[in-house]
Amino acid sequence: MANQWTEEELLDLARKYSFRSRMDRNAISGPVLVWGRGSVVRDVNGKEYLDFNSGQMCAALGHNHPRIVQALQESCESLIHSHMSLFNDKEIILASRMAEIAPPGMNRSMFLTSGSDSNEAAMAIAKRYTGGYEIASPVVSFHGQSEAARAVTFSGWRQGYGPYAPGNYPIIAPYRYRCSFCQNKPGCDYTCLDTSFELLDAQSDGQMAAVITEPLFSAGGVIDLPEGWLRELKLRCEQRGMLLILDEAQTGLAKLGSMWGFEHEGVVPDIFTVSKHLGGGIAVSAVVTTDEIEEKVSQTGLVVAHSHSNDPLTSNAAIASIDIILEENLVDVSTRIGEYWKGHLNDLAERHQLIGDVRGRGLLQGIEFVEDRETRTPAYQQGQEIGRRCLEDGLIVSVRRSGSVIRFVPPFTTTEDQMDLAADILDHAISSASSGT
Ligand SMILES: Cc1ncc(COP(=O)(O)O)c(C=O)c1O
Repeated sequence: MANQWTEEELLDLARKYSFRSRMDRNAISGPVLVWGRGSVVRDVNGKEYLDFNSGQMCAALGHNHPRIVQALQESCESLIHSHMSLFNDKEIILASRMAEIAPPGMNRSMFLTSGSDSNEAAMAIAKRYTGGYEIASPVVSFHGQSEAARAVTFSGWRQGYGPYAPGNYPIIAPYRYRCSFCQNKPGCDYTCLDTSFELLDAQSDGQMAAVITEPLFSAGGVIDLPEGWLRELKLRCEQRGMLLILDEAQTGLAKLGSMWGFEHEGVVPDIFTVSKHLGGGIAVSAVVTTDEIEEKVSQTGLVVAHSHSNDPLTSNAAIASIDIILEENLVDVSTRIGEYWKGHLNDLAERHQLIGDVRGRGLLQGIEFVEDRETRTPAYQQGQEIGRRCLEDGLIVSVRRSGSVIRFVPPFTTTEDQMDLAADILDHAISSASSGT
């Protein structure tokens, strides 16, 4: 059925009725999206865009994947929602499927709705398990915008919401491109960790519960972990009886060319969380941990329960999503198309001095813009302008670090032709921003 509304009519309604609280955009302006398939979305005017943000990273399997649609239809025929204290078939099956793809021994899952609530739950588990309440997280981290998740989100979107509960501490981020400890050394020597833990030990109330971190910092600027950093972090947590929580919201489920972002270091966390494309576009998240941790915290009477916890419809979407990831071999797909995209980014970096760094893995990559490659002064305005031009020309990306970083999260469905087209759009946007035209 044809859309009944024009863009202007919809925006007029939005100007009157929509609450302006979204990230990155305060103005009420187009495009107004109405349709999506695979890696393409369409606005109300019929204009198409390559969606290199995968919606809000949640449509990484491709918009409206037919198997997700089928799972939703099935649940509409059987059971959409159920009593949160009673079991339903879909959440039990999903928990067993999650154990199949989690590291050995991480058998226990609960299912919630968002990245934020899964991280809140993970921190609540760590607090119950250790008896402590203090949590640390790197300064480029993003863990969500609910109260407790925002309290450990240090990459921005933080000021003006306090006071936060006591016991949340930032630690230094392993941001090699800008690290004052090791930028000019051949590798990270973990001075950042030693300094962070010296400070933590000094200010702690002696009640440290956990460190929560992403295995590649996405919202903070697509910052990958240096070799060995996660192993060294785990060691320091173990020495203090703290748990390690990994937030795999953006990095899990094949996105980085491995099932989990933490895999390439061989580190197994105590708890991990996953959300974003777990539901193939439907809101569902998971908290996964060991039998031993689950046993101990459930003995303490831990309750983490929301109206939509473990819902059959969202669980069914997540089962379909795991089927797709395994059957369509998405670990290999992200490695292959991630390399193809990296080739384009490296090629652009050779031709544009504005690009100071190319980084990321698989389907989560970024470029950092600098005024000058020697001084590495961030090129905030040019990056903002490039993001704006990309959108105008039909490529959706996200702009991070106040404009100096552009992040690309194309869906697994993206073809080489679509990547070629995206690289052309980006090339043109960078040329225009560099020449000021
Ligand atoms: C790493 C990470 N954790 C948590 C969240 C929060 O997820 P949600 O917005 O679903 O609450 C995000 C959102 O972008 C994220 O990137």
